[in-house]
Amino acid sequence: MSPDRLLEIASVAELVRRRAEWEAEGRRVGLVPTMGFLHEGHLELMRRLRQRCDTLLVSIFVNPSQFGHGEDLAAYPRDPVRDAELCASVGVDALFLPAPEEVYPPGFDTWIHPGMAGERACGPWRPGHFRGVLTVVYRLFHWVRPQVSIFGRKDAQQLWLIRRMARDMGLEHRIEEGPLVRDPDGLAMSSRNIYLQPEEREAALALPRTLQALAREIAAGGNPQQLLAEAWQRLRSEKLLQPQYLELVDWQDFRQLQEGETLPQDLVLLGAVKAGKARLIDNVFLRKGREVEI
Ligand code: PAF
Repeated sequence: MSPDRLLEIASVAELVRRRAEWEAEGRRVGLVPTMGFLHEGHLELMRRLRQRCDTLLVSIFVNPSQFGHGEDLAAYPRDPVRDAELCASVGVDALFLPAPEEVYPPGFDTWIHPGMAGERACGPWRPGHFRGVLTVVYRLFHWVRPQVSIFGRKDAQQLWLIRRMARDMGLEHRIEEGPLVRDPDGLAMSSRNIYLQPEEREAALALPRTLQALAREIAAGGNPQQLLAEAWQRLRSEKLLQPQYLELVDWQDFRQLQEGETLPQDLVLLGAVKAGKARLIDNVFLRKGREVEI
């Protein structure tokens, strides 16, 4: 499919009008929210949702409210032409490209705050970040009214918080979980990987390797707290990395595990590091206490 066949919707008014048409035609609408500069991880979300809806809509909006002071909002990579081509190549029907003034009109001052789960893992390192994410996602859900949406497992805490927001706010559509997609060297795909110098990228591989080794050791019955402490020391000894956290949480309620606690059914090991200008996050799931999902 050529990008010419891709409908580009630039305003909320047009989106609402199109949405009404899709509804009248009985079409099931799927939404993939993104900030653009698309990579294979995003495309995999689109391919999965393509099979579950009639009209596949991708939003591209670099959401200012989820960037903190000193973060990379101005420098965030953008490539709208390539993004449109990639979307067309996986069968996306429409792009929603709202302007910041429409998403945050003058005087906008109502926000969705995450609860306790937003204060763990990335929370302390990015104050206000999840408030910005939840608010923009809520607004997208409100305008698009999708029957199904999808978020990648790479941003596990974001996925958990969006599902909890949907439940708490009574949004009934289905929120799918997409896979974490890795580059051949094992680094989780991220639009921000472009910031990495070759030697930083090499060093950054310590994050997935540490998480994967840790998950296997925990699955094999090792003491999680002791293993976490040892892994943290190893990560800290990496010269080009500034580790931010390594956490083991219960996927059911996103609660951090306590010393000596029996392992719950579904766990996720999360980590974040800074390497040069890039802040990288990664995670590994331990499903049913045993199976390790890299
Ligand atoms: O994961 C992202 O790209 C963003 O956080 C999202 C969900 C599109 C909200 O801006």
